[in-house]
Amino acid sequence: MNMVQIIEKKKLGQALTAEEIGFFVKGAAKSEEDGGLPRYQLAALLMAIRLNGMDREETKLLTLAMTHSGDVVDLSSIPGIPVDKHSTGGVGDTTTLVLAPLVAACGVPVAKMSGRGLGHTGGTLDKLESIRGFDVSLSQERFLEQVRTIGCAVIGQTANLAPADKTLYALRDVTATVDSLPLIASSIVSKKLASGAQAIVLDVKTGAGALMHTTEDSIALAQTMVRIGCDAGRNMVALVTDMGEPLGSHVGNALEVKEAIDVLAGRTQGPLLTVALELGARMLVLGGAAKDVPEGKAKMEAALHSGAGLAKLKEMIIAQGGDPTCCEDVSALPQAPVVVPCPATENGYIAAMDTVGLGNAAQQMGAGRTTAEDVIDPAVGFVMQVRIGDRIAAGEPLAIVHARNEVSAREAVCAIQRCVQLTGVPVAPCKLIHAFVSSESVERL
Ligand code: URA
Ligand code: CA
Repeated sequence: MNMVQIIEKKKLGQALTAEEIGFFVKGAAKSEEDGGLPRYQLAALLMAIRLNGMDREETKLLTLAMTHSGDVVDLSSIPGIPVDKHSTGGVGDTTTLVLAPLVAACGVPVAKMSGRGLGHTGGTLDKLESIRGFDVSLSQERFLEQVRTIGCAVIGQTANLAPADKTLYALRDVTATVDSLPLIASSIVSKKLASGAQAIVLDVKTGAGALMHTTEDSIALAQTMVRIGCDAGRNMVALVTDMGEPLGSHVGNALEVKEAIDVLAGRTQGPLLTVALELGARMLVLGGAAKDVPEGKAKMEAALHSGAGLAKLKEMIIAQGGDPTCCEDVSALPQAPVVVPCPATENGYIAAMDTVGLGNAAQQMGAGRTTAEDVIDPAVGFVMQVRIGDRIAAGEPLAIVHARNEVSAREAVCAIQRCVQLTGVPVAPCKLIHAFVSSESVERL
C-alpha cells in the first residue's frame, strides 16, 4: 500500500477502500519511531478529507478501523444493558453528574469513560476531581466491579482507547481540519464503540458554543453518528440540544459539581435538569427500564424526588475514594477566596452570549487548561445570573465571579461583560431541545 497514492486519490475526491483506510489508520496508531506513517503524510490526507469529504461507507470504515486501533472494553460481565451517554462538549454542561446517578438509580447500569476539559469546554473528570479524594483512574477490574455492585462508575479513558484518534485529533488541532463532519463523527463514535456500551445516547450541541453552529449542521452530524453506531450493531440515538448559552448557570469545576448536587437534592430546576431528564429518559428506554420517553421521564423524576439519585451519587463518590460530605453540605467543596458580582453596564434584554468566550474566561481564571499539562484550580469560575431573553438594569449582576485573587476577578468581570450582548427590544428565550435523531427518523422538536 502506498500512502502517496491514497492522498492522491482523496485529493481527486475519490472514495477510499477498506484496505486503504485500514492502512492509514494503522499508520496513525503507531508512533513514527515504531514504524507509523510520517505525520506530514497523515496531515495532508486529513486536509484532503476535510476538503473533499467521505461518503457514508468510508466514514463507517474509518470509524470501525479507529475503534479497533486499540483496546475495546468488554462490558459483558455487567448484568442488564449498560448505557452510555456522550456530549459533543459545552459550557456549564454537567449533565453526566446529574444523569449517571439518576439512571443507575432507575436500574440501568452506567459504565462511563469521560474526558478532561480542553479549551473552552469543561470535562467531567476535572469536575469530579474537585471532590476531595475522588479517584478517576480505577483499574478495569475495579471499574467493572463497581458498576456491577452499585450501578455506575465514571473513570478516565484507558490509555490505549482508539490510539489512532489520539494521533489524528492532535494533527487536526494544528492543521485547521477539526471542522469536518466525517472526521468529527469517526473520532467521537470510535471512542464510544471502543468503550463497550451496547446502547448510547448522544447529546449533540448546537449554537454559538458548539462544534456545529446551525441546527441543520448539528442534525447532519447527529445522523452521521447514529448511522455509524447502528451499522456497527449498537443501539444509538441522539438529541440535538442548545449551546447558544451555558446550559447550567454554574461554570467551573467545583461550582458545576455544586449545581449537579443542587439539582439532585431538588433545590435547583431549569435547563440543566430539563436536558438531563430528556437524555436520561432515552437512556432508560434503550436500557429496557422504560417503554417510552414519558415513562422514562416519570421514573427519572421519581428517583429525583425520592432522593435515590443523590444517594446514588454519594455511593459512587464513596466507592471511588471521595469524601461524600459535599452531598449534604456543598460548602465542603473547594471555595474561591474572592467572590464579586459582574454588573451589567446598561439596561436591556439579554440578546446573545458568546458561549466560547465565556468558556475561555473560565479557562483564563484557572478552571481549564491551555495545554494538557496545566493544573486546574477547582474552586474558580462564575455563576450566571441571566439567560437569553431576561431583562436587566444597569448595575444588576450578569454573573457572580468566584476567583483566586482580585486581578483575576477584575479580568473575569470585563470578559463576561464583553460576552453578554444586550439589546433594547424584547428577545425570546432559547429553545433547549431542537431534535431527536434515530436510525429511522429525525424528529424536530
Ligand atoms: N470531540 C472529539 O472527540 N472529536 C472531535 O473530532 C470533535 C470533538
Ligand atoms: Ca463535557
